[in-house]
Amino acid sequence: TSTSSARSTVLSIDAGTTGVTALVVSDDGQIIARGYQEFPQHFPQPGWVEHVPEEIWQATLEACRAALKGIDRSSLAGIGITNQRETIVLWDRETLGSPRRAIVWQDRRTAAYCAENKAHEARVSEITGLRLDPYFSATKLAWLRENEPHTWALVESGRYAVGTVDSYLIARMTRGTWHVTDASNASRTLLFDLHTGAWSPELCDLFGVPADALPDVVANWGTTHLVTDPRSFLDLSLPIAGMAGDQQAALFGQTCFEAGEVKCTYGTGSFILTNTGSQAIRSDAGLLTTVAWRSPDGAHTYAQEGAIFVTGAAVQWLRDGLQIVGSAAETAAVAATVTSTDGVVFVPALTGLGAPHWDPDARGLIIGLTRGTTRAHIVRATLEAIAYEVRDVLETMPALTALKVDGGAAANDFLCQLQADQAGVTVSRPRFVETTGLGAAFLAGLGTGVWNSFDEIRQTWSLDRSFTPAGADDVAYAQWKKAVERSKAWA
Ligand code: G3P
Repeated sequence: TSTSSARSTVLSIDAGTTGVTALVVSDDGQIIARGYQEFPQHFPQPGWVEHVPEEIWQATLEACRAALKGIDRSSLAGIGITNQRETIVLWDRETLGSPRRAIVWQDRRTAAYCAENKAHEARVSEITGLRLDPYFSATKLAWLRENEPHTWALVESGRYAVGTVDSYLIARMTRGTWHVTDASNASRTLLFDLHTGAWSPELCDLFGVPADALPDVVANWGTTHLVTDPRSFLDLSLPIAGMAGDQQAALFGQTCFEAGEVKCTYGTGSFILTNTGSQAIRSDAGLLTTVAWRSPDGAHTYAQEGAIFVTGAAVQWLRDGLQIVGSAAETAAVAATVTSTDGVVFVPALTGLGAPHWDPDARGLIIGLTRGTTRAHIVRATLEAIAYEVRDVLETMPALTALKVDGGAAANDFLCQLQADQAGVTVSRPRFVETTGLGAAFLAGLGTGVWNSFDEIRQTWSLDRSFTPAGADDVAYAQWKKAVERSKAWA
């Protein structure tokens, strides 16, 4: 093992949808320290979801402080950042204060806008690999332009910067010196041309977004010129040497470096990504095409993605909305107190449906209730829903032979077994399920010489447990599909 003065560790920041995780990762791929800070969710209207940028920033500082407690700071080689994607943040380039809350990827306020502009969808998809759906950043910016003209005027005048959470954090950490994003995050905005690897003038025009307000797009590692300002970031002056959108970071963290390798991350939502190598392959089954990463030499690796909006968030809703569980960790035990849901099906379309259905007007549904229904049935139906939602995406991928899982809920054995049964393939869980943060650490470590090759990184991946399929209950899955149809076009 290396000595601490050898700069052999990396600080990784995972700014997720509901909280920020900070990890310190050593050169053998071990997580040697962690910090976590949840931040508030704001739901100003049904279907709307917002975050206060300052609260994300404070949670970031808090999580990093906690992770760095007791760590020899001189061992840190650099910082990796990964983040919830698509969410848009505005900030004043001078003061770094935000004039309004961030509009979150889950927010559905632009459903009508997307419906009205349906005619442009084919062209938009051709350029971006995405769909015209409220999920994506540019629709949210178009909404701001229309509904908050005073704020928008300052975007146009150049006073306010526009970016995703990665850009915002980098601006805060470098005291406003840098306004950058990486190619994986850029590829989620609906403004980025997948083929040229640059902002699309045609799409900036279509959505009315001034290209000057957008960040410069950089590679996913090797960005050692982005140095933190110790006055704003915990007395640290370190290169932000790696970054990626959280799902691409998880793909990297699972060491899915070869075309054909697949991972599923269970977070607020669940995201299934397949590495497709140097080919940007389009899907007609409801999958997105996206940049996996851009190497410092400018070469892109692409991925196909099945984005499911609400999985872990459904468990959070059981805890905070319905208040029938005290914690997410409790759900496996509660679900196990019954042997089935007794016909109860929960479709957690709480923010519409993403892949493979794509219906922004779908809403959540619990059906099959009887007088015998208990909270255990509903909790079990929630965990089953997560596995069914993922199965809906996997059904579009007939060549699937193995699935690597990660994210908080992957720690849940009940869910992993259910997933293996539903998917009909072996599900493998690595030793560390905080793969998103690990991926950002790997990127930063590649950028600073902690690791020198993909092979070195691959060697750090180790299996915790694999789950072999024991057969799915196809009657229950058919019921699920019926319930999904009923949840559609509700709002
Ligand atoms: O596209 C949204 C995704 O990046 C959010 O991920 O981990 O916060 O659910 P997560």
